[in-house]
Amino acid sequence: MTAIPKIFISEPINKRGMDILGDQVEILLAPDTKKETALIMIKDADAAILRATTRFDSEVIEAGLKLKAIVRTGVGLDNVDMKCAGEKGIYVCNTPGTNDETVAEHVVAMVMALSKQVIGMDRAVREQRWQERFSPMQRDVKNKILGIIGLGKTGLATARFCSNLGMKVVAYDPYVKNPLPAVSQTDDLDELFSTSDFVTLHCPSTPITHRMVGKRLLKMMKPSACLINASRGDLVEEEALVKALSHNQIAGAAIDVFEREPLPAGHPLMAFSNVILSPHVAGSTTESNERIATAAAQAVMDTLAGLVPKHICNLDYFPKDKKDKLLHDSGYSFS
Ligand SMILES: NC(=O)c1ccc[n+]([C@@H]2O[C@H](COP(=O)([O-])OP(=O)(O)OC[C@H]3O[C@@H](n4cnc5c(N)ncnc54)[C@H](O)[C@@H]3O)[C@@H](O)[C@H]2O)c1
Repeated sequence: MTAIPKIFISEPINKRGMDILGDQVEILLAPDTKKETALIMIKDADAAILRATTRFDSEVIEAGLKLKAIVRTGVGLDNVDMKCAGEKGIYVCNTPGTNDETVAEHVVAMVMALSKQVIGMDRAVREQRWQERFSPMQRDVKNKILGIIGLGKTGLATARFCSNLGMKVVAYDPYVKNPLPAVSQTDDLDELFSTSDFVTLHCPSTPITHRMVGKRLLKMMKPSACLINASRGDLVEEEALVKALSHNQIAGAAIDVFEREPLPAGHPLMAFSNVILSPHVAGSTTESNERIATAAAQAVMDTLAGLVPKHICNLDYFPKDKKDKLLHDSGYSFS
């Protein structure tokens, strides 16, 4: 009798994905996102579905002696050692195209909430400060400049939505050519920071983007401008952001991702009423979670069935013979 495959799941995924996994596999659902937990539970797993928090470094991957695939819900792969997995012939896949517009909608919501003072006005009513309606704080978004850093999937969707709101969209991305007529592309990051009314970050965490937004760029922003980060926490030097807010160098911020998640209690960012915080949910809605879980579960089931799953991201680290065989056998276009 063949053993039932075991699937490690770091944090619960949407029911649609669980339905695809069905009763053909045994689910090993981690009780927490700690590395020590993953290290123990991964020993028996044939595949893993990971969300953003649990780290799969080389130690965890090497403990997964039966591991064939690590599937990351969403797109960010900064919590997986792609090289280590590739050298062992373990697929690392993600689920692109499942939440780009979801993230863009969140950014639109933040642009609107910051402009219209949605949270502050709600508080004013509850605290009997009706006179706040005469406050000059609310702004129109039409004709305001939105600066986008990173013009990939989430950046482009944000550019489309915000230009439809009548915003002037400027984008900085040294690696792609802007395809949207309504968006102007710049190679001058300093100019983008000094002229934008909103700056929104949409690039991955890399050695180049790590802490790219620090004291220098924040100082260039207009006092009326706001920073939005729904990309990766380590793109922004949080200490510098706290200082910029304390000295009213910028008007506000909306932050979904942090240097350390969950954001520790009493973190200085929590003290600002002009900062909107969210717990890394920009890409999560009922609908996107269904799409993400479906794609992740399908990648696992394809792997277990001996098929080549979609969206393998670490093929370059595979031993050459394995990579060549995969490309030859599957006729698959890796993206
Ligand atoms: N908060 C959330 O819930 C959430 C959800 C989805 C994605 N994300 C994060 O958002 C980020 C972007 O996702 P995406 O799907 O748009 O990725 P993507 O790969 O489609 O696009 C990223 C873009 O960033 C550009 N880029 C890389 N380095 C750059 C640099 N130094 N300066 C400017 N641009 C640079 C790339 O050329 C690319 O066009 C990822 O880090 C992802 O993890 C967060």
